[in-house]
Amino acid sequence: MIGKTLLIIAVFTVCADFPVGMAGMVGGFSDANVTDQGVQDALQFAVVKHNERTNDIFLSQVARVISAQKQVVSGMNYKFVVQMGKTACRKTGVETNCPIHDDQLSAKPYQCTFVVYKHWSGTISLTSETCPLV
Ligand SMILES: *[C@@H]1O[C@H](CO)[C@@H](O)[C@H](O)[C@H]1NC(C)=O
Repeated sequence: MIGKTLLIIAVFTVCADFPVGMAGMVGGFSDANVTDQGVQDALQFAVVKHNERTNDIFLSQVARVISAQKQVVSGMNYKFVVQMGKTACRKTGVETNCPIHDDQLSAKPYQCTFVVYKHWSGTISLTSETCPLV
């Protein structure tokens, strides 16, 4: 009897952890609010990873978020289309105030699509990155 009760509690706990996923909503992306902390964290993570991969000695930063979407999986997928631009901050530097250059020639604007996957456990990864070579 106790065993059965525990099993029921366990099942309910799992359901509570995956409320939307269990309802069969997996598959669709819907608009995400960029002011949400989770959405901002995901975008910042993508930018850090992107900067690690570029050959440029200067950091890129997000100039404009064109679209932000999220998809419930066993966690959350975030998909961003963003306008990027170059800053005057070197990757090796310690500066934290890194605005994008005002002039287009230095900013070298380019567009990226990032998909960030965040598992419920907290592990996060950049699963897709589509940018011109920079
Ligand atoms: C995004 O979230 C903020 C803060 O919660 C809220 O004020 C704003 O209306 C939301 N925007 C949209 C488009 O839902």
